[in-house]
Amino acid sequence: MEEQLKQLQEEAVKKAAAAQDLKELNDIRVAYLGKKGPVTEVLKGMGKLSAEERPKMGALVNVVREAITTAIETKQSSLEAEAIQKQLAEESVDVTLPGRPVKLGGHHPLTRVTEEIEDLFIGMGYTIAEGPEVEQDYYNFEALNLPKGHPARDMQDTFYITPELLLRTHTSPVQVRTMLKHAGKGPVKIICPGKVYRRDSDDATHSHQFNQIEGLVVGENIRMSDLKGTLDAFAKRMFGEDREIRLRPSFFPFTEPSVEVDVSCMCGGKGCSICKGTGWIEVLGAGMVHPNVLEMAGFDSTVYSGFAFGMGQERIAMLKYGIDDIRHFYTNDMRFLKQFSVHE
Ligand code: DAH
Repeated sequence: MEEQLKQLQEEAVKKAAAAQDLKELNDIRVAYLGKKGPVTEVLKGMGKLSAEERPKMGALVNVVREAITTAIETKQSSLEAEAIQKQLAEESVDVTLPGRPVKLGGHHPLTRVTEEIEDLFIGMGYTIAEGPEVEQDYYNFEALNLPKGHPARDMQDTFYITPELLLRTHTSPVQVRTMLKHAGKGPVKIICPGKVYRRDSDDATHSHQFNQIEGLVVGENIRMSDLKGTLDAFAKRMFGEDREIRLRPSFFPFTEPSVEVDVSCMCGGKGCSICKGTGWIEVLGAGMVHPNVLEMAGFDSTVYSGFAFGMGQERIAMLKYGIDDIRHFYTNDMRFLKQFSVHE
């Protein structure tokens, strides 16, 4: 019996050591130590033994059982460790592989130009004002010194919704709305970016919807030289330090005097196709706020004066980036837009 047990132990320990996986190891445990296994069988046969032999045999069975259990447990730990190692190897990440680039969008060129202009004016102490795109005839025209029937209304072909309601043709009505909010007290210093609408046929230089930025400064002793200095800073920031501006007399009903502002061309005055040989490019309209406009908005024109200007971001962007057709801004062609993405 002793011999038999020793053999069983040897056999079981050998098999446990050779087990390939946890399932096989468990089968070995059941086979040798289970209820129907040989070790249990030996225990069952103990009743037949003499009283002296019984404790000796009992101790031996325990030793054998311990030995087999230890062999199985040792193998189990090593199989488990192997499994973890295998899983780690399989799931390992190669941190040296180059990542997949995340595609980032870029700002639309009109957004870039608008933000650049906003930054410049905010830096000069302006705040940003906004107004409605569906506007009253009163703010869009009348309060800007353009009464009903005024011929200058023809300069801006208008989408009317009702005789009194329209799609604003420029951002100038925000001047009036802002001055009214100030209730006759200066200073006022705003720019107003926004969409505007004209009943124009779309072509390379016209669009029925486009963008403008309006500027308005009202205070005591505001002079034309303030306007000129401001616009000079604007031109240099947008187009380059070497650029100059020039004011040409013009007419707008809401300013007196009124000017058209040109910026010197990048050809340096030699004359090129962009400036059509003149050396100058028209960029915006401006002037000293008309006393009628100040008065209608509740400002005393004997105390207050102001300047105003209005420009189109499309035109500025076209000049700045050399874009030859305004329709590129609205057709969302990725080949066009990607050129303004700073991420690629
Ligand atoms: N509102 C004018 C337009 O759309 C542009 C303009 C000209 C605005 C002169 C002004 C200004 O504020 O003073 O054509």
